[in-house]
Amino acid sequence: MTEPDATEQVELVRQRYAAAANGISAGRGTGLTSSPKDGDRFGAAHYEPDADLPGRAVAASLGCGNPVEVADLRPGETVLDLGSGGGLDVLLSARRVGPTGTAIGLDMTAEMLGLARGHATEAAATNVEFLAGRIEDIPLPDDSVDVVISNCVIALSVDKAAVFAEIARVLRPGGRIGITDILTDADRAQRAGKVECLAGALTQADYRSLLIAAGFADVEIHPAHTAGDQLLSAIVRAVKPVVRQRDPGFQVVPMATAHGPEVLAIYQAGLDDGDASFETSAPAWGVWNASHLAEHRFVAVDREGCVLGWVAASPVSSRCVYAGVVEHSVYVAPSARGRGVGLALLRALIDSTETAGVWTIQSGVFPENTASLALHERAGFRQIGVRERIGSHHGRWRDVVTIERRSPM
Ligand SMILES: C[S@@+](CC[C@H](N)C(=O)[O-])C[C@H]1O[C@@H](n2cnc3c(N)ncnc32)[C@H](O)[C@@H]1O
Repeated sequence: MTEPDATEQVELVRQRYAAAANGISAGRGTGLTSSPKDGDRFGAAHYEPDADLPGRAVAASLGCGNPVEVADLRPGETVLDLGSGGGLDVLLSARRVGPTGTAIGLDMTAEMLGLARGHATEAAATNVEFLAGRIEDIPLPDDSVDVVISNCVIALSVDKAAVFAEIARVLRPGGRIGITDILTDADRAQRAGKVECLAGALTQADYRSLLIAAGFADVEIHPAHTAGDQLLSAIVRAVKPVVRQRDPGFQVVPMATAHGPEVLAIYQAGLDDGDASFETSAPAWGVWNASHLAEHRFVAVDREGCVLGWVAASPVSSRCVYAGVVEHSVYVAPSARGRGVGLALLRALIDSTETAGVWTIQSGVFPENTASLALHERAGFRQIGVRERIGSHHGRWRDVVTIERRSPM
């Protein structure tokens, strides 16, 4: 028998899920369970039992994890679920993002879309939308989505590079993915059959390479549980960089709590140099976190996800008139200096603060820190003047150069 070509494979997948949707609608079940163990591996088993879950959507779940948990959704966000099936993850996302957010499901199988829309009506969800289309050609504009989730779908695609390129296109800069998917630890060439979730499963290394090739940074892939012979369900997280670097050696992404220990270590290394700040020791994460704005924080990460540098801002005053004035800090790990990390971080900060209506970024720099002064000049900061003998540092009175960058108003 000859192998089905790509078009035939897509049609086989569509027919399989159309039949599953028809089975669910008729009360016969999905008809997809092939082993007693599948009940633990796929579907509702991955969701906390909750009396308030949309019951029929739970019963229609065909996923291999819970991407809503993986994606850490926040109120007001726009979420896109690739291959939304019966719509459970869309409905759960809609609750997390609340009335100011939107949850969008995308699926190519009309029968699944019909099922999902019925579940949304049943759940009286108003901030949800289901779109017909292929995940390789997402019918949404560029930079229009905050988070892409997906549950056990990308493994089915005949063109995963196109899927990741499309995710990168529709995500806004700094947007993230939280996916659960089937991966293999076996040689894919040994696999036969194309319809099973598995035929197209990638290895962890291939999945990571495709995400990086599509421009994603901070890629994390964690095996979660066994999903069959040499198959595993994995959790995948990645971030679309804020500023795309020409040097693919690093990317700038929003700072997350997980970056905290590296951020503080880089801060301490800067303080130990003696020319970065009057401070002499980095505080605990909680103190650092509370003293910086939650917005406008970025890290530069290398291909392995190691933090190379960070930038963040603090308010200068609680008075309304200073609402658009922030004070920033930028630190680059000693081993990453001279690679453009500081400039990339400052550009991300400028972009983010300007978008938020901030009109002045200011800071103080020791005159001896000529590298920092030159870096800020390249990023468009100007020197306002020198405040002489403003404070004592390690027993020595020091001057501070005040620098600022004004946004066009
Ligand atoms: C395994 S089910 C998962 C459904 C849902 N995510 C869940 O967790 O229940 C796969 C779903 O992805 C859809 N699908 C598969 N390949 C697709 C593609 N290339 N484009 C759009 N949808 C696709 C199928 O129609 C089906 O609804």
